[in-house]
Amino acid sequence: MFKNITLGTVAALALTTSTVLAAGGGDQQIEDFAFSFEGPFGTFDQNQLQRGLKIYTEVCASCHGLKYVPLRTLADEGGPHYSDAQVRAYAAENFEVFDAELDDYRPAKPTDHFPENNDAGAPDLSLMAKARAGFHGPYGTGISQFVNGMGGPEYIASLLTGYTGEEKEEAGVTLYENTAFPGGWISMAPPLYGEDVEFDDGHSNELHHEAQDIAAFLMWTAEPKMMDRKYTGFVGVFLLGLLGFLLYLTNKKLWAPVKHRKTV
Ligand code: HEC
Repeated sequence: MFKNITLGTVAALALTTSTVLAAGGGDQQIEDFAFSFEGPFGTFDQNQLQRGLKIYTEVCASCHGLKYVPLRTLADEGGPHYSDAQVRAYAAENFEVFDAELDDYRPAKPTDHFPENNDAGAPDLSLMAKARAGFHGPYGTGISQFVNGMGGPEYIASLLTGYTGEEKEEAGVTLYENTAFPGGWISMAPPLYGEDVEFDDGHSNELHHEAQDIAAFLMWTAEPKMMDRKYTGFVGVFLLGLLGFLLYLTNKKLWAPVKHRKTV
């Protein structure tokens, strides 16, 4: 018993100190943004997702695609949760897709996906928040990720706020210094400066807030069922706990006659 308590204390200590050592791996500087969807009961913030979608549409979509995301999911509960009519209007106003049947382009419908976009050589952003890790270590143990999460959205938000303003040209390509990008130089020009979009809900469009909103939106595109996953996990753990408790009682009852038998 005492051994268990000591082990528990050591583990808890290791976890808390690791958060201090946590952020960033190597030369990257990753800020630990506070997102609404963190923790076992965290949920997406519908207004934040709507703001992120607006930033994506007005800024990022000119270079980045979201080809794995069906437009109809913008109406999903737990997501941006627009009405079906709003999604229809949004799709038709903002995107054109190639229709093989018509052999021509037509306005997008909710049944289409967001278009892909390879024109600028920019990677697709659908799964980017899951493809990058903001947190590493300490010392290669991965404890930081266990406590803070992988840090995908933190990485994206830090990338967007991490430009130093320095530029250089290498083999005809302009590179921009960025404190969050591995290696420190990225070929994407700073896409956000603050006040790039006007939000309908009057929310601040300062750079730091915009970066957080688009990062939250990209977390949703990468894992739209996150809340379902957490809920299922919670129910699973609860039921297993209950089962464990019942097994304990059964065990006690089964062995009771043997334990209380008088030795002759
Ligand atoms: C002018 C075109 C352009 C715009 C606009 C743009 N990007 Fe990029 N983005 C790029 C290119 C090109 C790359 C590849 C950069 C590289 O690998 O050096 C990139 C890479 C990225 C990456 C991946 C970085 C990595 O770790 O590999 C992320 C995340 C990203 N962009 C997010 C965004 C977001 C969010 C927006 C909108 C706020 C945006 N971009 C707007 C061109 C653009």
